[in-house]
Amino acid sequence: MHISKLLLLFPAFLASISDAHPLAPYRTFEALPSIPQGWEELSNQAVDPSTPISLRIHLAQQNVPQFEKALIDMSTPGHPSYGQHMNQAQIDDILRPHEDTSAAVKNWLESKGFGNDLSFKNDWVVVSTTIGKAESLLQTRYKVFRNSKTGKNVIRTLSYSVPRNLHSSVMLIQPTTLFGSTRAMKSTILKVEDPSVLKSTSLSKVKSEGINAACQSSITPECLADLYKYKGYKPTLTKNKLGVNGFLEQYAQNDDLSKFLKKYIPDAKNVTFTCTPINGGKCTQHPREDFTEANLDIQYTVGASNPIPNIYYSTAGRPPAVDLDPNTNEPYLEWLEFMLDLSDEEMPQTITTSYGDDEHTVPQSYAIKVCNMIGQLGARGVSVLFSSGDSGPGDDCTSKDGKKRFVPNFPATCPFVTSVGGTVGVQPEKAVSFSSGGFSNYFSRPDYQNSAVGGYLSSQTDATTFKDYYNASGRAFPDISAQGSRFHVFVGGFDQLVSGTSASSPAFAAVISLVNNDRIARGQKPLGFLNPWLYTTATEKKGIVDITSGTSRGCSGSIPGAGWKATTGWDPVTGLGTPDFSILKDL
Ligand SMILES: *[C@@H]1O[C@H](CO)[C@@H](O)[C@H](O)[C@H]1NC(C)=O
Ligand SMILES: *[C@@H]1O[C@H](CO)[C@@H](O)[C@H](O)[C@H]1NC(C)=O
Repeated sequence: MHISKLLLLFPAFLASISDAHPLAPYRTFEALPSIPQGWEELSNQAVDPSTPISLRIHLAQQNVPQFEKALIDMSTPGHPSYGQHMNQAQIDDILRPHEDTSAAVKNWLESKGFGNDLSFKNDWVVVSTTIGKAESLLQTRYKVFRNSKTGKNVIRTLSYSVPRNLHSSVMLIQPTTLFGSTRAMKSTILKVEDPSVLKSTSLSKVKSEGINAACQSSITPECLADLYKYKGYKPTLTKNKLGVNGFLEQYAQNDDLSKFLKKYIPDAKNVTFTCTPINGGKCTQHPREDFTEANLDIQYTVGASNPIPNIYYSTAGRPPAVDLDPNTNEPYLEWLEFMLDLSDEEMPQTITTSYGDDEHTVPQSYAIKVCNMIGQLGARGVSVLFSSGDSGPGDDCTSKDGKKRFVPNFPATCPFVTSVGGTVGVQPEKAVSFSSGGFSNYFSRPDYQNSAVGGYLSSQTDATTFKDYYNASGRAFPDISAQGSRFHVFVGGFDQLVSGTSASSPAFAAVISLVNNDRIARGQKPLGFLNPWLYTTATEKKGIVDITSGTSRGCSGSIPGAGWKATTGWDPVTGLGTPDFSILKDL
């Protein structure tokens, strides 16, 4: 009698435990199938449990589909809400986690003794603790991993757990599984060259296009102004600003900019930029160091957009961590949080970034979070451009399960990014072989590119030839393109030739900043998130010029013939094509 009564009570007792904190059983929340490529575990090196760590726990947001729809609507020409961007308070109100979500996570952390170590902000909590305590909170074990290329070590884990009843409340916990490298999208093929490689080229004008023939072999600001048709356009000053994003301890140099302007744009020789440090980033001026990426970016944005103010955002966090500090690997989140905190007056209307990673090396939860925050910038009225990458269809083209697959780049695959591929030459302008493009395995194809990408997939032989190597339902990239080969850049005081989609993104962003400036000067709203406009009005009205020749190359021989051909219409090398400012400005 006694026993059966107990048995009857037992299931009810269990149910009440699993619905309440903190006794619900733990379940794996996120696990990587293997150590990401390029990393190895140092099994003989123990992690000191007293090492400090700041765990960031991002809470599940509400109304994400509604927010994304509102973003697309306000970015779609002809929609009643076109141009009606939001302020951050409005965005936060839509996305704010449900109070039950915040309460559940808070209860869990308090029950584990972290009540005094928490700082809450909007949709995330920071827990300041130690590796040892984090291990018991997340039922995991942190280990030391070494990057085989750089030899640098980092503390990470391959999987972690949270109580089962919190799985729908938690979106992301880092640092845990994010290894990341945030590579500068600099060409691995052409590298940096000395201008003496250029054969003496005729300086005569190509009559029909008015473009200097020397632009066929190397690019100056004048080449871009001629080619993308903004030569002679003088922006009047408005509140418009252009942001350039820097990571990896790359610092744009005033001295190099000034030498560059003096040689290539004497009218603008006094123009400078401002530098904003983020998360302990620096604005170091040390002209003799090799800050190729930063100098390329700032010289070509300032070069095309002056006198529009340019801001260089310098975010600290150089992965992989050098000193086994587990906290230094999240530059994107730090950067995005800083940007979303800016007031409407401080916010630049256009931002270019020339960094990225192989998509499969970034945990999907992290990619989704970063992409959501980029979408919030779009809703604030900011056009966010990223270079597409310099590996064509992929570097070595092996996915994490060992299968041969093309490798997409993140954040270029985020549907709220405008991804910029590369071109070369002016007669005609063609796809450049290193220009990355393809299809995401994390993000599905957004509606705004259904027609353009669907058309490509159903009509082009490449789409069939390579069908086993890419994900036809994924978000396709790049969206557009610009010159990417042999840009004259001053680095450490000398004129160098730099190649990569690292050059394409600032070149395209400068044109967008000019369009934004023109709109604001006329009392209109800035363009904000570009893609719905690019895939409709901008292309239909020929503000984007289709690139139809050239082929990308990649996969180091592991997939024979790997590469995408540029075609009529959208293609995975040059996207929709390159800009024509004279048309874009009046759309
Ligand atoms: C640059 O600054 C110098 C010194 O202030 C001034 O004399 C010169 O006119 C300026 N040049 C241009 C092109 O603005
Ligand atoms: C293909 O992409 C979709 C998203 O569009 C994703 O759900 C799916 O898992 C991807 N497939 C592979 C094999 O990665």
